[in-house]
Amino acid sequence: MATLLAIGIATLDIINTVDSYPEEDSELRALSQSQARGGNATNTLTVLSQLGHQCHWGGVLIDEADSQFILDDLALSNINISNCKRLSNGKMPTSYITVSQQTGSRSIVHHRDCPEYGFDDFKKIDIEQFDWIHFEGRNIDDTLLMLQHLKQHHPDIPCSVEIEKPRPNIEQLFELATILMFSQHYAQANDFENATDLLNSLANNITATCTWGEQGAWAIDNSGKLLHSEAIPPKQVMDTLGAGDTFNAALIHSLIDNNALQHALDNACKLASYKCGQQGFANLTQNIEL
Ligand code: FRU
Repeated sequence: MATLLAIGIATLDIINTVDSYPEEDSELRALSQSQARGGNATNTLTVLSQLGHQCHWGGVLIDEADSQFILDDLALSNINISNCKRLSNGKMPTSYITVSQQTGSRSIVHHRDCPEYGFDDFKKIDIEQFDWIHFEGRNIDDTLLMLQHLKQHHPDIPCSVEIEKPRPNIEQLFELATILMFSQHYAQANDFENATDLLNSLANNITATCTWGEQGAWAIDNSGKLLHSEAIPPKQVMDTLGAGDTFNAALIHSLIDNNALQHALDNACKLASYKCGQQGFANLTQNIEL
């Protein structure tokens, strides 16, 4: 069991499940609607908490009508919020999500009126209590300061950075992380046709993974060796929302235990694939051996 901190967001997810993804300017009825607490960092912590770790979240909480739902869910997942920034104005980030039953794809319209968690907030945290720190690759200027601070004052604490969306100057973070987790979306937005081209383009000594949907995921270790792990398709794809966040959680879980990168990649693909076969995150790790 380890003590982990993740810096990133919590959202309110309003999820409409439809038979198939709608045409533009059409009208259709949802098969069902549900609400969930989402956000990459807190989704990853939810899975890590199920895997038995002590999880702390650093992010922004706004005191408004929807935040109680988010707070209740974080409490249910045993996620410590004492390092959060609490504000009274604004709105918790909200995602309007359409899940297609035919393909399991999830399309997200995201709205935010919420400041980012900054370096000033981060500096107040008692960092020494943590065995691992995970960052969403967002709010680049401040995340860069956080990573530089860790490198200077806590060089022995490993840190991971998720590179999911292309953002200006995000490459500045690359050399400061113990491991980078790239998404297929990021790779394709940067004109890479496959995961290995992206991984091979990185500077020497960088350890990184890149997920690629049904093809599984690839990794590069710090000697430049490429690794691959297959996805294990579930009988039916039910819900891919948060599969990447689950991948990251299983990867961190395995690496904290000093497992080899190949083993961590295999575990991450296994749990992310398994997640696609069920709705949400409830009891995700109960019937699976990592
Ligand atoms: C899934 C997710 C959702 C959230 C959105 C934010 O990875 O974290 O829960 O609404 O992405 O980008």
